[in-house]
Amino acid sequence: MVKRFMNAKIKKIQFLSIIFFLASLIFLLIFILTKNKNNTSHTKNENSEKLILGFSQIGSESAWRTRNTQSIFEAAAENDIQIIFDDAQQKQENQLKAIRSFIVYQVDVIAFVPIVEDGWDNVLTEAKDAGIPVILVDRQINADPSLYAGFLGEDGLEEGRRAARFLLNKCRNRTGTVSIYEMSGTENSSVVRDRAKGFREIIASDPKFQIIHSEDGDFLRSRGKEIAENLITSSCRKDGLYYEGQKIDAVYSHNDSMTLGMLDSIENYKVYTGNTIIISVDAEQKSIDALQAGKLNCVVECNPNLGPKLMELVKDIAEGKTIPRVTYNSETMFTENDDFSTYQPRGY
Ligand code: AHR
Repeated sequence: MVKRFMNAKIKKIQFLSIIFFLASLIFLLIFILTKNKNNTSHTKNENSEKLILGFSQIGSESAWRTRNTQSIFEAAAENDIQIIFDDAQQKQENQLKAIRSFIVYQVDVIAFVPIVEDGWDNVLTEAKDAGIPVILVDRQINADPSLYAGFLGEDGLEEGRRAARFLLNKCRNRTGTVSIYEMSGTENSSVVRDRAKGFREIIASDPKFQIIHSEDGDFLRSRGKEIAENLITSSCRKDGLYYEGQKIDAVYSHNDSMTLGMLDSIENYKVYTGNTIIISVDAEQKSIDALQAGKLNCVVECNPNLGPKLMELVKDIAEGKTIPRVTYNSETMFTENDDFSTYQPRGY
């Protein structure tokens, strides 16, 4: 009797132990699953399901730049991508700070327009260590290529070549030296290096083309105006532009802002530049208007509308796809020989 009572008790204890064990197991499983779920949601997008793009722009030095920023914002809205934006006010140190803040925020992707080529290795290593992919927009850098996913922007070399090919063709029947004055953009930027290199590569085919001076105009209208004013006031001549006594046959300007600034001074001082070949880069509406008015001879397009392609790349990266190392935007050029009636408004 006592033995039967004891057996029944043991069975009951065994049964309760199994129930307790199973309950603990279920509890543990629920705990682990909940914990993992919470961890995932804390890595990125803590409060949102949207992709977050940290974007550092260099500033708003030109109408081209303003359109570039707008294009990125418009495309982000169309693709439901959230942008954390920083305007670096033309300072690399501000861009470095912005990129570091994007890393702290754990954005999904970082995109930035590198104002200059050098000095990015440390911050990009930090982004890489944090597992955040980086896309270079508009300008390139001198750094270990494994530190960024890819580049999206213009082919600056080709832009320079296009400008030079126009000049070569325009001066094909000319004898004697063609003196070229170059106004270049922000020093140490990849776009300036490429536009200068592509241009030189083509004119090198004929020694009559000589660059007599290259001046840094920082891509600014105010600088273009100032540079032309200095040329005009130091030569005291109204029959053309001169540099240190030498007549300038052609001006190669790395962007429209500087070109428009130069035209401001030419108009202010009433200088005759009908024989000066003026070539510009960007193709803002105002420079297309100047081309149509006969004040410029050629405008090489640099396409600022990088937003739609950038969002495509951001989404591809977020889906774990590899993006191309280099993506160039399509570009064209406008010249005095065009049928202007076919021109579409530029929109910027
Ligand atoms: O990097 C692109 C250049 O930067 C554009 O030609 C110029 O207008 C801008 O400021």
